[in-house]
Amino acid sequence: MSTEKSNPSFTSKLGLIMAAAGSAVGLGNIWKFPYIAGENGGGAFLIIYLICVLVFGLPLLMTEFLIGKKSGKSAFGAFQAIRNNNRWQWLSWCCMLTAIIIMGFYFVVTGWCFHYAVAAIMHSFKGLDTTAFYAHFSHFVNNGGAMFGYSVLAVALTAGVLWFDVNKGIERLSKILMPLLLLMMVLMAGRVLMLPDSNIGMKFFFQADFSKITPGVVLAAMGQCFFSLSIGMGAIITYGAYMPKTQNITATALQVVVLDTLVAVLAGIIIFPAVFAFGVDPSEGPELVFVVLPGVFEQMSFSWLSSVLFFGLLCIAAVTSTISLMEVAVAFITEASATHKHPLNRHKAVLVVSAIVLVMVVFNVLSLTDKGTWLFFQGKSFFDWADTISANILMPVNAFAMALFVGWWLNKNEVHHEIGKKSGWQHWICASYLPLVRYLIPLAIMAIFLNGLGIL
Ligand code: PHE
Repeated sequence: MSTEKSNPSFTSKLGLIMAAAGSAVGLGNIWKFPYIAGENGGGAFLIIYLICVLVFGLPLLMTEFLIGKKSGKSAFGAFQAIRNNNRWQWLSWCCMLTAIIIMGFYFVVTGWCFHYAVAAIMHSFKGLDTTAFYAHFSHFVNNGGAMFGYSVLAVALTAGVLWFDVNKGIERLSKILMPLLLLMMVLMAGRVLMLPDSNIGMKFFFQADFSKITPGVVLAAMGQCFFSLSIGMGAIITYGAYMPKTQNITATALQVVVLDTLVAVLAGIIIFPAVFAFGVDPSEGPELVFVVLPGVFEQMSFSWLSSVLFFGLLCIAAVTSTISLMEVAVAFITEASATHKHPLNRHKAVLVVSAIVLVMVVFNVLSLTDKGTWLFFQGKSFFDWADTISANILMPVNAFAMALFVGWWLNKNEVHHEIGKKSGWQHWICASYLPLVRYLIPLAIMAIFLNGLGIL
């Protein structure tokens, strides 16, 4: 009798879709997307972003699902299992490195969300105006102890979910939280659209001014697309390995892309009308959600309900993403240690990853406070660098390599076997898949890089 436990897997197709959508939908959609769109011209950015989602997002999501499903392995063993050699092992390590860098700052921002959700529930913001919110935010971001405390809470909660087997923890929770999140967002959007002059914000968000588009905007849109869809760090490979064998990759990837984009657009619909209705500058940057929005809520009727709803949904979105980020590392370590003398089981791996993450969190937190001036490089904090390097460099580079891996190192029949030549609408996606991952995506990523760096 084999003593080996069977590979972890999700028990239903819906569970996988909800978990993958949970990974994709996160702070990237609700915190980052609106402020990056606000800084880069609103509607014009939205159009470039949507093009990136179609050209890069969908095919690359299919690529990661394919690698995971075909190999049945985590980011650690997937490339090796498919090619039967370890020439691509560096890519596995790059995925792990990216996951660790992202977790470091992502858990800090998740901590901010927790803090704001708690404050919203206790109604501690009652009557404050935007200036007071600025003061509150900069005080909080300078208070290393509180920030660290909330980040530890986020790490502990995530580790708690991962403690269970994937079908009991991740799958069950995602099936409850994702529909709840969507419902909350639709309610919020409806609420905001009833504000007077909400059409000004809608115009800003949906009307494109193409003079705003520069190479930097295109690079930002591409980075945002990778980050938002969790592409280029093995999160989707890891979930792909848990995919039921009968599940269709194309349809699943499309569903995740649609859900993720829908939530980003809904976030824009919630934030811009509110921001314009109260005369705030939409290009506020990262503070948009934490400073501007609570100020706006305080001026609205039902302010308590609005801010509890909003920060509640921000926490849900963040946690379903931290779960997938941590799962990448947990699955990686479990698999990597399996052939060693002292293999780590899931529980031990969760503890090891939590410890690594906490160390990263300390650096990120410190770099935001007065004590962290030594963590500034070229005028940017460690925290800012972690964000920029992961989304705009590491994820595109990893995704570039994954596209080449499937496009050139797998034979066509293997790819067709997984992606198939489906009929109907899926036919077009399947037919364009290989030309995209072989030529267009690698060339486009390279061009955008060189262009963004001012070389091209
Ligand atoms: N996609 C998540 C978001 O939009 C972030 C994330 C990146 C999660 C990579 C997992 C892996 O917030």
